[in-house]
Amino acid sequence: MRLDKYLADMGIGTRSEVKQQIRKKQVTVNGLLPTGPQQQVEPGEDEVICQGEAVPYMEYEYFMLNKPQGCVSAVTDRGHQTVMDLITKKNRKDLFPVGRLDKDTEGLLLITNDGALSHALLSPGKHVPKTYYARICGEVTQHDVTQFAQGLDIGEAKLTKPAKLEILCSGPMAAEVKLTITEGKFHQVKRMFQAVGKEVSFLKRLSMGGLCLDASLQPGDYRRLTEAEINLLYTWH
Ligand code: URA
Repeated sequence: MRLDKYLADMGIGTRSEVKQQIRKKQVTVNGLLPTGPQQQVEPGEDEVICQGEAVPYMEYEYFMLNKPQGCVSAVTDRGHQTVMDLITKKNRKDLFPVGRLDKDTEGLLLITNDGALSHALLSPGKHVPKTYYARICGEVTQHDVTQFAQGLDIGEAKLTKPAKLEILCSGPMAAEVKLTITEGKFHQVKRMFQAVGKEVSFLKRLSMGGLCLDASLQPGDYRRLTEAEINLLYTWH
């Protein structure tokens, strides 16, 4: 790979900015000044240093974001803050959110540039489980638990796949629940509760394919996934 592409891929600057840095002798490869921006480097083998800081090559980046309410799950948006605006400490410019959470939904959102992993996690055939915590307007009963397990008519061609509804607490006016679904239809959780005559007043995703939201992340906070967490997601392939 060309040295200028390597540095630009790692977010050091635009292609012309990194060319300038190379010409100004701010970059070394294996301790030596490169011949020019076109010098070939081997990602993962050659040691590239820019302005005294090592620049390891990362083909893929993986972040867990606790999505806050009010921002949209998109890479760009004309009118709204996007989840990508929140990921400020990144190298790659080709990151995207894996799937969508509604603007008013909080919780676990994976951000990566690993297209194969994203495809596998979102593929309907893989039935990747997603668990949500929800607050509901109205009482949630054992009858609802049975209906969610049997499948609900949310206006699609088929009933929803069996879902595990767990009542955390419920009174005549409101309830708190955990719900695990293996599909990802538009507004699915809200539509499932609508199908039993109830409304979701708060929704937060807790986990996806075995990856759990780090409880220490406040809404808007994010961190890189650990190797173990990346491997965990790959087991759903
Ligand atoms: N289901 C919903 O209704 N909204 C979400 O954001 C995610 C799942």
